[in-house]
Amino acid sequence: MPRTITIAGNWKMNKTATEAAELAKPIIQAVANQSEITVVVCPPYTALQTVGGLIANSSVRLGAQNMSDKASGAYTGEISASMLRDLHVTHVILGHSERRAYYGETDEIVNKKTIAALENSLKPILCVGETLAEREASKTFDVIRTQLVGGFKGISAEQAENVIIAYEPVWAIGTGKTATPAMAQEVHAYIRKELTSLYGDTVAQKIRILYGGSMKPDNADALLSETDIDGGLIGGAALTAKDFLALVESGKAASLKKA
Ligand code: PGA
Repeated sequence: MPRTITIAGNWKMNKTATEAAELAKPIIQAVANQSEITVVVCPPYTALQTVGGLIANSSVRLGAQNMSDKASGAYTGEISASMLRDLHVTHVILGHSERRAYYGETDEIVNKKTIAALENSLKPILCVGETLAEREASKTFDVIRTQLVGGFKGISAEQAENVIIAYEPVWAIGTGKTATPAMAQEVHAYIRKELTSLYGDTVAQKIRILYGGSMKPDNADALLSETDIDGGLIGGAALTAKDFLALVESGKAASLKKA
């Protein structure tokens, strides 16, 4: 069974609820009910309900960009998994490099959030990736291994199948610098190898590994044709419907080729 390609848009801290609806409408209209690939949009918390209402009858899935590891209680400003579920959220981005860098999220925190998401039937999009300094010091694989082992701690093989990994080299995020398809494939293959040692080949072959970092319509086809690249987590190019829909088309084309 080939892995279903996933094209996910990370809108980051952009778009009011009103603006989010404007961006979501043409995407929903174009994606409609297709089931060849999984399309996910991840607006900010404040637009989840609005966008969720719009996608109700389409195959577009709703994702959040972060989540608390706690179930409920005195955690001012936090949002729980059950609150997201109630808004029909199905996916949640966890451990994005911006959260790791600006909000001090460690592998331990990311692991707790991943477990909380899985316990609430949300699909985590677990982000890993090295900085430029780490790449230049030839530490890429070590960094990725630590993030994977830390992120998957205590997660069973059965649960692991529901985790989506996003490999996002930090130096490629929002910079216009994309990893070449060969560079990205090398790390994706490494991630799958590590997943094989953690969970065995059958499970590792099922887990989707997305690429993120300046993915855009003109580089997507080449990236998505690589064996271990199962989709994209897209920031900048997800903020215009035209570019995002071009990426959806690239996802569909890659899906046909890999079938
Ligand atoms: P980018 O962001 O596509 O703007 O590089 C990707 C991400 O941070 O998820």
